[in-house]
Amino acid sequence: MRVHVADHPLITHKLTVLRDERTSSPVFRQLTEELVTLLAYEATRNVAVEQVEIRTPVTTTIGVRISEPRPLVVPILRAGLGMLEGMVKLLPSAEVGFLGMARNEETLEPTTYAERLPEDLSDRQCFVLDPMLATGGSLGAAMEFLFRRGARDITAICILAAPEGVAAIEKQVEGRDVTLVLGALDERLNEKGYIVPGLGDAGDRLYGTV
Ligand code: URA
Repeated sequence: MRVHVADHPLITHKLTVLRDERTSSPVFRQLTEELVTLLAYEATRNVAVEQVEIRTPVTTTIGVRISEPRPLVVPILRAGLGMLEGMVKLLPSAEVGFLGMARNEETLEPTTYAERLPEDLSDRQCFVLDPMLATGGSLGAAMEFLFRRGARDITAICILAAPEGVAAIEKQVEGRDVTLVLGALDERLNEKGYIVPGLGDAGDRLYGTV
């Protein structure tokens, strides 16, 4: 598994505002979108392309275009939905599938409550959007789901991650083609399963739930 932690002052600046408890939901949503677009640039570094010949007004030349089958973007509901616009801005030709995972707040175990994905993901590159990699439960379950359908490789984009979550995913996906692209790697998880210092509940902050 490859792990890429963003190292860019613009990303750190936006993350700092995102973490601030005084940041309102509209600003939080806007910043999440911007951050995902920046992270998507790194996450799509290995997107499959094929050569094409085109004519410029001057001559013909060889360029590339994104290969078929189209990449699949999978936001994990609910908070991953706040990352979708930022992702498709950079990858407008991607297909979008949905996976609803909820965390049982007592056991911290993930359950699937919604799924809208192609049956066959053979040869598909998948980009999973999940803002908070905490225990790794829901992201791990989502990856398992996609690999069972034949996904060729999976890149997950997370705004923040805890070392515990990264370790859990690494153990689970051993031997598979997985990349994590993280806005930041935080210190730890607390006893309630929140990332520290983190930003609180990403879904609540995106959608203004009290
Ligand atoms: N999910 C969140 O939204 N925040 C955390 O800190 C952990 C999981």
